[in-house]
Amino acid sequence: MKVSVAAVAVALLAAAAVLMTVPAPAEGSGHHLKVGYYDKKCRGVENVVKYHVAKAIKANRKAGAALVRLIFHDCFVRGCDGSVLLDPTPANPHTEKTAPINIGLAAFEVIDEIKAAVEARCPGTVSCADIVIYAARDAASILSNGHVHFDAPAGRLDGVVSLAADAQRDLPDSTFTIEELIHNFKRKNFTVEELVILSGAHAIGVGHCSSLRARLTAPPSQIVPAYRNLLAGKCAAGPDPIVPNNVRDEDPAAVAAAFPSFLKKLRKVKDFLDNSYYHNNLARIVTFNSDWQLLTEKEALGHVKEYAENGTLWDEDFSDALLKLSKLPMPHGSKGVIRKNCRCVSHY
Ligand code: HEM
Repeated sequence: MKVSVAAVAVALLAAAAVLMTVPAPAEGSGHHLKVGYYDKKCRGVENVVKYHVAKAIKANRKAGAALVRLIFHDCFVRGCDGSVLLDPTPANPHTEKTAPINIGLAAFEVIDEIKAAVEARCPGTVSCADIVIYAARDAASILSNGHVHFDAPAGRLDGVVSLAADAQRDLPDSTFTIEELIHNFKRKNFTVEELVILSGAHAIGVGHCSSLRARLTAPPSQIVPAYRNLLAGKCAAGPDPIVPNNVRDEDPAAVAAAFPSFLKKLRKVKDFLDNSYYHNNLARIVTFNSDWQLLTEKEALGHVKEYAENGTLWDEDFSDALLKLSKLPMPHGSKGVIRKNCRCVSHY
């Protein structure tokens, strides 16, 4: 068959038109993320991250909990784009990390240290957003003795927008009711079950007394009075002290004085990531109102009981939920870059 040049041109134009109407994959949509993304671009980067996370946790176990919180606070606000890492500047004085809801957020120096090591190895290649995910994954793995683990896909870009108001709008508050918590997670496409699974992260780390103020006057149906007294005593010790999220990490003297029946359950190794949160919750010895709220709704309560009974299931489901969290995309059409310094956008 003979085909004229004009016919070929028309066919090509038609094909081009079809291609142009196929929507390009949304920027940062999560679909482009790949396990082993840096295998060729920056060989060994995941080992570098793991080395620095292990070192930081060895020096101070609290860094591990802070890294696990960071993945949540980064990904729930404008997707996993490292926007939580940006320091305030005169041009943008209210970045996410200045939001009241981000009280106590930490481990930024650990991210800086990792970034510096990675930049020395492969300049301008690995995003801060991916470092946050790898670091949280490794911290969760180390604090759980390897029970929490997953392959983390990468290829995220760093956002250039960071607003305290976005963090305040998107992150859940410890004063929330169960309805507000469910709604907050639903907005990000997370189920009631995933709300319960992810809340289990409160087995580790610390909270400020200002984040649990309401618990100090809550009735015995919501908090064991001996534990409430213990918290009240510790919270009277300064303007806004911190307390361990997990009662088994409490200091022995305070427990001996206020909650002696719990003394035998204290642990030497603190911040161990397991399903103890669910046992504590059913026993009404958790720190935040938002934790207790999980007992007030049928489905959520069912899952609290399920994970109290089955620690292995929680390890697996928590790993899956962190992985899902790590895929939250940037808003459609957002600009993405690879920052040189995770704390500022001016250096890319
Ligand atoms: C369900 C809604 C949640 C609420 C209302 C909530 C609230 C809080 C609050 C108020 C603190 C203490 C902050 C302070 O006073 O310093 C905290 C700490 C923490 N949260 Fe959550 N959180 C939630 C979910 C999560 C999730 C999904 C994760 C991670 C998967 C997480 C991980 C942590 C960790 C690890 C800490 C301790 C941080 C540290 O010791 O540095 N939280 N959370």
